[in-house]
Amino acid sequence: MSQGGGNIPVLVLKEGTSRNTGREAQKNNIMAAKIIAESVKSTLGPCGMDKMLVNSMGDVSITNDGATIMKELDVQHPAAKMLVEVAKAQDNEVGDGTTTAVVLAGELLSKAEGLLDKNVHPTVIIEGFKKASEKAQQILEQIAIPITFEDEKTLKDIAITSLSSKGINVAEDHFAKIIVDSVKQVSEKINGKYKADIDLIKVVKKHGKSLEETELVKGMVIDKEIASSQMPKIIENAKIALLNAKMEIEKTEFDAKINIESPNQMQLFLDEEERMLKDMVTSVTKSGANVIFCEKGIDDMALHFLGKAGVLAVKSVSSSDMEKLSKATGGTIFASVKDITADALGKAKRVEEVKIGDDKLLYVRDAKNPKAVTIVIRGASNHVIDEAERSLHDGLCVVRNAIEDGKIVAGGGAPEAELAKGLRAYAVKVGGREQLAVEAYAEAVEAIPLTLAENAGLDPIDIMVALRAAHEKPNSQYMGIDVTNGKIKNMKEALVIEPLRVKQQVIKSATEATNMILKIDDLISVKGGGKMPPMPPGGMGGMGGMGGMGGMPY
Ligand SMILES: Nc1ncnc2c1ncn2[C@@H]1O[C@H](COP(=O)(O)OP(=O)(O)OP(=O)(O)O)[C@@H](O)[C@H]1O
Ligand SMILES: [Mg+2]
Repeated sequence: MSQGGGNIPVLVLKEGTSRNTGREAQKNNIMAAKIIAESVKSTLGPCGMDKMLVNSMGDVSITNDGATIMKELDVQHPAAKMLVEVAKAQDNEVGDGTTTAVVLAGELLSKAEGLLDKNVHPTVIIEGFKKASEKAQQILEQIAIPITFEDEKTLKDIAITSLSSKGINVAEDHFAKIIVDSVKQVSEKINGKYKADIDLIKVVKKHGKSLEETELVKGMVIDKEIASSQMPKIIENAKIALLNAKMEIEKTEFDAKINIESPNQMQLFLDEEERMLKDMVTSVTKSGANVIFCEKGIDDMALHFLGKAGVLAVKSVSSSDMEKLSKATGGTIFASVKDITADALGKAKRVEEVKIGDDKLLYVRDAKNPKAVTIVIRGASNHVIDEAERSLHDGLCVVRNAIEDGKIVAGGGAPEAELAKGLRAYAVKVGGREQLAVEAYAEAVEAIPLTLAENAGLDPIDIMVALRAAHEKPNSQYMGIDVTNGKIKNMKEALVIEPLRVKQQVIKSATEATNMILKIDDLISVKGGGKMPPMPPGGMGGMGGMGGMGGMPY
């Protein structure tokens, strides 16, 4: 790029660099982000459609999950990438509401474009959107409904609402029960507040049978076989030793040479090895353990002795499984065989090896009050199982959110309609040009009920008129769209409910991304596949981390 006075060009940026500035850059960015939002719109809600995605390797996935669609899209444009980030943030923070967040961001940008065309300055729009999002958070808090940890029925309805928009809705009741049971099982009360670490819920996928046969195991399921065929396949009332040490003779670090001069000495040497291994096995059996999970290897001779003593042993267990086994069975992980003590053994009703298809799995069942559990997903095809896993993830997240916060909101577009109403009233108080931005925000949130209606094949205009009218009446904050018959209904009574946290995060992530995109008025790219040149600090607000976009047409 060259700018020159007279005949001498002054080279400011590397040759071949393309640059978009001002309105043109904004328009391009908004357009790219809107296209992305448009692409996921049709999947929103219980009547939303699915997407079939084929990646560069030819792998096919069929999904309704916003986060997955965004992950699989190989997006090139930097502004569009920001919307992919929105979906990622939403998925990481709260696990659900990814489609909603992306649709809202697209809609906000679309409304912002209208304001830019009317010559409203981007900083005014950004400020207005910020104020609107703060107000939206307040309104959400006001309309939130408290729930308790004990209220299993409501927790199940939250899971069902999340699952209902996914492909697995044939088995949603069964899944919802498993979700609530498992999250409650791993929840702990700390300083009067519940904490549910859903990483303690292990998910195992096994091809075969049907979704209805998906099972919650109150304990652990490990993708390992019993270490020796001489060992029992089932142990009732298992006492479990968890060991993070080898049950082998320690090898020297350097090559060592032992000179043996007579057969006698050879025998002594072997006897000594055998004695050491026997001692190790005795340490295990003496504690009363009848099952041992070992993170490291176990010598064949030790396996033989363990088998003879009727102990079931599993070797080379992953460290994450060991930790979960410890949480599930209440056993301590021992650093050496000598440390194994009876009172620190884990307990479970039954440990058994189960053959599923061609694979063998090890089940540790019915541990007493386990703090880690396993869900074994079954399904007729891998596509079904994969989508079930994604849906399960959303379900586990929403129930966790509801348990941790103790607050929910109605779904079906009810909170969005309430937000639009509240924001319109608030806009008047804001006044000035920012008022326009707050009003635009109100319109943008209405895109959620509008899209829900559209996807259900309802007339969006009729529905929106009816929805707005319903929200003008007193005590109408739960009124939303019943997608099955196109009527406006109390969504709380219709048991369509979602955690408050999902809606809060939708507002947060959509507003942040929108404002970031609106702030950009200069897009510089180096052509020819090169990386973005290092930016001067603060030189390109919000463009950090967008490297590698060389050679793309903007
Ligand atoms: N039975 C129902 N009637 C009306 N609306 C519903 C019903 N069930 C769910 N919804 C609404 O559907 C929306 C959620 O749809 P969906 O799960 O497809 O998108 P998402 O949660 O934003 O994204 P994702 O699940 O892909 O992360 C919410 O607004 C929710 O209130
Ligand atoms: Mg969802």
